[in-house]
Amino acid sequence: MKVGDLSYRSVWRDGDSVRIIDQTRLPYEFHALSLRSCEQVANAIRTMQVRGAPLIGAVAAYGLALALRHDASDGTLTAALDMLADTRPTAVNLRWSLNRMLRQLSPLDPAVRVDAAWTEAGRIADEDTELNRSIGNHGLPVIRDVAKNNEIVNVLTHCNAGWLATVDYGTALAPIYLAHDEGIRVHVWVDETRPRSQGFLTAWELSAHGVPYTLIADNAGGHLMQRGQVDLVIVGADRVTREGHVCNKIGTYLKALAAKQSGVPFYAAVPSPTIDWSIDDAFSDIPIEERSGDEIRFVQGIDRNGQISRVAVGTDEMRVANPAFDVTPAELITGIITEVGVIPATRDGLASIAGK
Ligand code: MRU
Repeated sequence: MKVGDLSYRSVWRDGDSVRIIDQTRLPYEFHALSLRSCEQVANAIRTMQVRGAPLIGAVAAYGLALALRHDASDGTLTAALDMLADTRPTAVNLRWSLNRMLRQLSPLDPAVRVDAAWTEAGRIADEDTELNRSIGNHGLPVIRDVAKNNEIVNVLTHCNAGWLATVDYGTALAPIYLAHDEGIRVHVWVDETRPRSQGFLTAWELSAHGVPYTLIADNAGGHLMQRGQVDLVIVGADRVTREGHVCNKIGTYLKALAAKQSGVPFYAAVPSPTIDWSIDDAFSDIPIEERSGDEIRFVQGIDRNGQISRVAVGTDEMRVANPAFDVTPAELITGIITEVGVIPATRDGLASIAGK
């Protein structure tokens, strides 16, 4: 996607290093960072300089390539894989991508592993771009349908499932960009998404593309839906089970409940690497990341000197819980927008795309 006049992806290879956009500095500063070691990649994922399920997977694959540069032995491969796999537990794309890299690299002679690792990481990144482009194409008719009867299509989204969360285009935002590009008057209600405020990333992206949006507090969505000001909800996902339950950023479930109550269609946009076919019980088997309480005790912004800084909004002695994801039951979901089409959030719906 474009930033000013330049086209960017959210990760790319630059010689012997990997470049990412530091998302902890957005929306205040646009800064591309160079990562030169697997440790730096693991740190960037852990601290959420890169985030979003598909992007985490792609960046981790590049992390393995960096790890093998000086020593491509089995030992280094396994150690790097373990280090990266430990960074963030919920998005299944991380494990999917590391397993794919392992399958590709482990049978190879160490002498050829580095080149093969760069190639495979590049393929994962390219494929992600194509998956999201297809999700956009399949999601577009959903927006077109609403546009037949409405002058403006109001879409609510949660977190950031745009190009910053993927390699390019995004998942939930991909159909929105296409609708806007073909002249549909689409307006996006952007949930702020406390505590990490990924909504600011969504607002930044939409604004860069010229898509009208309004940033709202997380608690406002139900009210807007009740008043008929939301035509549909589209969110991304970090892990989807074969029964169609969708694990996504904390707060997604509440939006789905409100949408059901108000008769607002609720869609999840999901590329196939986000489906975890092995999970039996979505409500107990998906590891839900518990993040630092400081994400709730502090907020980040720009100080009087124009510097990014943090201020405390709580005190050290306050007890805080910070689960980062929740699971939306399949029965609250109108449809899952995948790279091969929109499917029902049911066992049969998911089975219909298995292996495609
Ligand atoms: O904690 P984050 O910012 O990595 O969480 C991101 C989300 O929950 C996104 O909605 C999800 O990864 C889908 S991104 C296309």
